[in-house]
Amino acid sequence: MAGRIPRAFIDDLVARTDIVEVIDSRVKLKKTGKNYSACCPFHNEKSPSFTVAPDKQFYYCFGCGAKGNALSFLMEYDGLEFVDAVEDLAARLGLDVPREQGAVDEQVVQQSQQDYQLMAQVADFYTRLMQTPEGRKLAVPYAEKRGLSEQTLTTFKIGYALDSWDALVKKFGRGKAQIEQLKALGLVIEKEGRGSFYDRFRGRLIFPIQDRRGKFIGFGGRVLGDGTPKYLNSPETRIFSKGRELYGLYQAKQANRGLERLLVVEGYMDVVALYQAGIQYAVASLGTATTSEQISLMLRSTSEIVCCYDGDNAGRQAAWRTLQNALPSLVDGVRIKFMFLPDGEDPDSYVQTFGRQAFEQQIEQAEDFVSFFYQNLYQQIGENDGEYARSKLSQLAQPLIDSMPDSEYKHAVSSTLAVKLKRQLDTKKPDTLSQAKEKQAKVNATGQNKVTPVRMLVALLLSRPHLAEHMRHLTPAQLTALKAMEEPGMGFLVELVQVCLQKPTINAASILEHWRGTANEKIVARLLTWEHHVDEQNIETVFLDALEKILSLFIQKRKALLQAKARMKLISEQEKQEYLQLLKMR
Ligand code: UTP
Ligand code: MN
Repeated sequence: MAGRIPRAFIDDLVARTDIVEVIDSRVKLKKTGKNYSACCPFHNEKSPSFTVAPDKQFYYCFGCGAKGNALSFLMEYDGLEFVDAVEDLAARLGLDVPREQGAVDEQVVQQSQQDYQLMAQVADFYTRLMQTPEGRKLAVPYAEKRGLSEQTLTTFKIGYALDSWDALVKKFGRGKAQIEQLKALGLVIEKEGRGSFYDRFRGRLIFPIQDRRGKFIGFGGRVLGDGTPKYLNSPETRIFSKGRELYGLYQAKQANRGLERLLVVEGYMDVVALYQAGIQYAVASLGTATTSEQISLMLRSTSEIVCCYDGDNAGRQAAWRTLQNALPSLVDGVRIKFMFLPDGEDPDSYVQTFGRQAFEQQIEQAEDFVSFFYQNLYQQIGENDGEYARSKLSQLAQPLIDSMPDSEYKHAVSSTLAVKLKRQLDTKKPDTLSQAKEKQAKVNATGQNKVTPVRMLVALLLSRPHLAEHMRHLTPAQLTALKAMEEPGMGFLVELVQVCLQKPTINAASILEHWRGTANEKIVARLLTWEHHVDEQNIETVFLDALEKILSLFIQKRKALLQAKARMKLISEQEKQEYLQLLKMR
């Protein structure tokens, strides 16, 4: 670890820097009297209210109130952290940043600088190999097949490692020291006991891993087909520790001045595909669960983290591990959410099929921390209830709550716990359950139909045909789709709605007439005489409630169908639009 930067150096640095030069190299300034001005880079405006005062070495915006010195400008404008902004200013003046005694080990610092340099050269080497005949024949078409644009390849410096045992060894392994360095950085592997070396990455698409400052610290390589392992990654090295880095963080910081949120995904391809689709704030955790170090790292640049996982069990488990790792970091102001994609989708496939808007809809629907917290605990408790569930719940929740710093989240989780424990004490579950069963038994004993939302709607429509008005907004295509749902009675319900919409004044007798001689005649007759026992003043509410149930079931099923179609590339443009509409509805 490098030592602290002496305060005196920073003061001196700021004193020797000309703020006008620093800002002018990024935002064109105009001299106005003794000051300079420009349209403010920190908010949208048409006439300039951003002012730089050379005598005070200070900037100020009359519009949005942004203000500060050269260092704060670099931090704000370039999205740099303090130390990095200091290094940047020092570099402009050709100065080395001194560090206070103690923790600095000159040799280590020098070595990592050399390591970073070599890694950058290697990254560059892989990038260039894309343009060799082998790269053009194998890697470029693969990247195209994955939907990656040239711009994306450039932004992420995606490259190719030749299908050769020693391309890298030959290029960079000239002397003993160099080979040792390559080995230490995990780029070459020593053949057992023979003192000879071969390349780690061969015949793979290369994703260089950069740290938050853009330094190259490792690589991930994907096979161009179905081979295994699918991804090969750099091992842990003296400059690369997987659990402390996030793939894509550098690009996200570059793309956004001030990150509103970061989205954590699983894979390289996810980050890259999202970026290309315009979601330029995704990072990959380089493993399944996100570590507490990675969470702290993110919270240095943003205050909202959305963790995105597959909807399957493994995904929910990874999310739970991430939640546990996040607990100590959840101070006031920090927000964390969890989103789960439909089964079989990952962010890459999802965004490439449905686009940015649909993906961002999914983000909006992410589960918030408290709800995911309890949902998972209830899952752990399972079917159990009564006193056992109660003590289990507090057993599981309390240690987690204890590991949280004092914050809004902590209060929310613990007061929710109190409420839940109380409620479990109040409701004697076995009772309510048997009551429900009794009711159902009564209904069955009277030989009536089970009261499903479909039957309820039909019965209510038969007595109040004008209620069909509530379904007029459904398009013919949607009605057809509803009809096709495998839900008992749905076909008849849709027919009935169509009849009622055409003749709002239709009465029970003519409804019966309408179905005379058809297969549904008997059902109509039975339902016409069925007592729905709904109070007059509640009819509309009950109708809307049942309708809501059916439509939400319909939307779920329809979404799943359209997703499946999309996955098999059978989806039409119109269906895609419909899918987008459906996403908005739920
Ligand atoms: P996935 O298997 O979900 O791959 O692994 P993916 O990202 O969807 O990749 P594509 O779309 O098939 O190319 C998710 C992440 O897990 C790590 C990688 O970081 C990968 O991006 N992983 C996966 C490995 O490190 N090694 C593997 O063999 C597989
Ligand atoms: Mn994938």
